[in-house]
Amino acid sequence: MDKFRIRGGKPLHGKVAIGGAKNSALPLMAAALLTPEPITLHNVPTVRDIVTMAKLLAFMSARVSTQDIPSTHYTIEAASLNDAVAPYELVKTMRASILTLGPAVARSGYAHVSLPGGCAIGARPVDLHLAALEKMGAEVTTEHGYLFARVPKGGRLKGANVAFEKITVTGTENILMAASLADGVTVLENCAREPEVTDLIHLLRKMGAQIEGEGTPVLTIRGVSALHGATHSIIPDRIEAGTFLVAGAITNGDLTITNCNPAHLSAVIAQLTRAGVPVEICDATTMRVRGSKNLVGADMTTQEYPGFATDMQAQYMALATQAQGTSVIGETIFENRFLHASEMMRMGANISIDGHRAVVHGPAKLSGTMVQASDLRASAGLVLAGLVAEGETIIDRVYHIDRGYEQIVEKLRAVGANIERIHGVSS
Ligand code: UD1
Repeated sequence: MDKFRIRGGKPLHGKVAIGGAKNSALPLMAAALLTPEPITLHNVPTVRDIVTMAKLLAFMSARVSTQDIPSTHYTIEAASLNDAVAPYELVKTMRASILTLGPAVARSGYAHVSLPGGCAIGARPVDLHLAALEKMGAEVTTEHGYLFARVPKGGRLKGANVAFEKITVTGTENILMAASLADGVTVLENCAREPEVTDLIHLLRKMGAQIEGEGTPVLTIRGVSALHGATHSIIPDRIEAGTFLVAGAITNGDLTITNCNPAHLSAVIAQLTRAGVPVEICDATTMRVRGSKNLVGADMTTQEYPGFATDMQAQYMALATQAQGTSVIGETIFENRFLHASEMMRMGANISIDGHRAVVHGPAKLSGTMVQASDLRASAGLVLAGLVAEGETIIDRVYHIDRGYEQIVEKLRAVGANIERIHGVSS
């Protein structure tokens, strides 16, 4: 297993370009299952989850081609959908594999997807995806760890009114895709409003789908009998951009972040501003962040978009360890998403956890040690802590970070960080 070695204390200076959003690319790739015609995607990030999704779609009989490796361009052609099976070996490494369920059952009337199972940040069930598909006429059963969804008598899904009990991002995306090919009108209430959902709507419209309500909690979808091919460029990754904002601030550096969309980061920018970080929006795709000698503790609670993203919570916690005073961090989206806190404490952070709240007292002098990544965003929090810690930090299990951060070592090194990947050292 690879590890990262970081020697902290160097301010980051220069420019960093943000890649395409992983959480947008995954549903957009799955959307290719809805049509026999090719879907071409640009600005796809070069991260492990994309490779996993490509393998999964190929397993389901789609032809996936990229121009070169690593490539940011993918063409996916699901001419026929012979084998709508998502096997455990692939699903277990990436929960977002569930995104193939809606399109597959809508297109072929049948899908067979491994249950994702638990993961490090809580139980993360898919009951809301399934309840919605059942309302649309699918019969869903589980056997031997697999979900079987089928429309009786080889028919098509039917439009329905679905009010999600809880806001779910991939749930909204799954049902949005399914409803695009259903018979009749579907009205989805209490939908996720994340920019990645809106990006999916933009691709589906290019494919011929009829969807209203983008950016609002209520989406109305008029099902069509067939969708066609399209070309689309993925939006920038707002979590990668937010992580670099914190990297510039925490190292007392000066970073210009290009190819991003500051409008998608309003809550993060507002929170960083409260914590004393100067963030300048240079234009529609560029931001500049500088370090501040006066970082101050500021409370933060994660919320669905447009609130502060749970995927930025670990990174914000790293910053809070360096701020003067107390920061109370509330996590409302996932249970058990403070696993990075105990590793930061081993580095010298002063954090106490009380259920869904973490109380961070700063500033703490962090010192490098061996730490373990527990999930994708927790790893990013540990990298940030390592960048500011005195001495050497070794981060183990960085396969988590490789799932979703494009060339993070190379990008950080290019702006002055002392970080390297140690290949294949068994743990
Ligand atoms: C997506 C993102 C992930 C992000 C999360 C929250 C992708 C590929 N992943 O994950 O990076 O952290 O949104 O912004 O886009 N829930 C249920 N039943 C369901 C579905 C969800 O109870 O059927 C619960 C979950 O356990 C969780 C909450 O709803 O507590 C939100 O989860 P959800 O929005 O579905 O997260 P994901 O779509 O898996």
